[in-house]
Amino acid sequence: MNRREFLKRGGTLSAVLILNPRTVFGSEANSAVRLGLLGCGNRGSAVAESFARNTSARIVALADLFSDNLAAGQDRFDKVNASLGQPPIDSKLLFRGPHCYEQLANSRDVDLIQISTPPYFHVQHLEAAVAAGKHVYCEKPVGVDIAQAKRALEIAKRVKPNQSVDVGFQCRKAPPIAALAERIKNGALGKIATVCGNYNAPASTEKKRDGEGPDEYRLRNWLWDRVLSGDILVEQNIHIVDLCNWLLGAHPIKASATGGRNVLMHYGDCWDNYQVDFTYPNDVHFSFSSTQFGTDGVFDAGLKLFGSNGSATCPYAGPIMITGSSAWSWQDAKATAAGSGAFAANGAFLDNLEFADRDKERTFIDSIVSGGAHNQIADGVETALSCMLGRMAGYQKHEVSWDQMLAQKEDWQLGFSLEQCA
Ligand SMILES: NC(=O)c1ccc[n+]([C@@H]2O[C@H](COP(=O)([O-])OP(=O)(O)OC[C@H]3O[C@@H](n4cnc5c(N)ncnc54)[C@H](O)[C@@H]3O)[C@@H](O)[C@H]2O)c1
Repeated sequence: MNRREFLKRGGTLSAVLILNPRTVFGSEANSAVRLGLLGCGNRGSAVAESFARNTSARIVALADLFSDNLAAGQDRFDKVNASLGQPPIDSKLLFRGPHCYEQLANSRDVDLIQISTPPYFHVQHLEAAVAAGKHVYCEKPVGVDIAQAKRALEIAKRVKPNQSVDVGFQCRKAPPIAALAERIKNGALGKIATVCGNYNAPASTEKKRDGEGPDEYRLRNWLWDRVLSGDILVEQNIHIVDLCNWLLGAHPIKASATGGRNVLMHYGDCWDNYQVDFTYPNDVHFSFSSTQFGTDGVFDAGLKLFGSNGSATCPYAGPIMITGSSAWSWQDAKATAAGSGAFAANGAFLDNLEFADRDKERTFIDSIVSGGAHNQIADGVETALSCMLGRMAGYQKHEVSWDQMLAQKEDWQLGFSLEQCA
């Protein structure tokens, strides 16, 4: 592998200098990080393929509740592996059914589990993976309700010092956003007065199979289901709330909200719009709105911050910049072309987020091979809880404080057993 190829695949200096394959992985032959994908759907497959193409991780195992999705995953990753000169997935490392997450966790041939199942299952799957001593890449959100969030915080305490756990907030790693954040954290805006943000996205389409029962239909259309997804504020809009928390260095202390279901006519109980007023420390208000509408692909997400020295604009697509006494803009013609963005349901956006997944994955794999393990569970829970706060204020139609939220016994049940999918 030449230097260029090495860097393209995610090699880093620290990996070269510090990695001792025998110590970290047990054998010289297995020095690549062996990744098992749990949930071979749209996002999961895109992220796993990006791991394979951009880092030293190899996709060695797949697990899914449904045989058709597992088969599609096998087909895809056999081709991906072949294109990288790697072997196909061993049939012993293909796991299907409601216990596939335990079988994957118990496999001695897997170092890292990528959890890309619907949000309702994240905490259960995280618990099994952490208990088995695996490194974990867990998609957001870390939990759909208060009970799951608290359970995740307990799991966080059981993560071993040499175990690395990342949560899928890749936007923080997008180069233009990371550069903007550094300037804001260094005081470019002065005292922050207010923040506003939005996430307006196309509605998702139905997944339907002949002969399926109502529970399977729900599972396949989990995006439309509050219990399985957490609703749009917790499942989708969470990226913008996460950026706000990160840039302000705090979580909201209270929220009031409205919203409802105005245009979505399909099955489900998720809202198609939210308007939330989050209050952060120092009386900084974050005014956030979101909508899922139409099918024309029009998409608009981002946030703006206003401070005593100027403002910052941080959209998914379009110019990223700071105005005022520390004026600055991201100088990448492709990334700053307004309108260059299109919605990507799998998160693979071709705009300011183009390199977000790649850089997130490289940093994570580096944390494993260099011994500088991450434990992002508590941060992930904090952002999930911030979204649950807005959701609770909307559902309950009154202001809710952080402490009032934590005192509520929100513990959502699926209402059926996955054993029927065995
Ligand atoms: N970070 C991002 O930008 C981003 C973007 C899109 C989706 N996501 C997240 O990724 C996750 C997956 O989303 P997706 O779009 O790939 O969904 P998907 O429906 O396309 O895929 C989910 C897969 O999980 C499988 N599955 C369902 N329940 C399971 C269970 N109990 N055990 C094992 N497998 C199970 C399904 O069969 C399916 O193959 C979600 O948590 C979503 O919020 C993140």
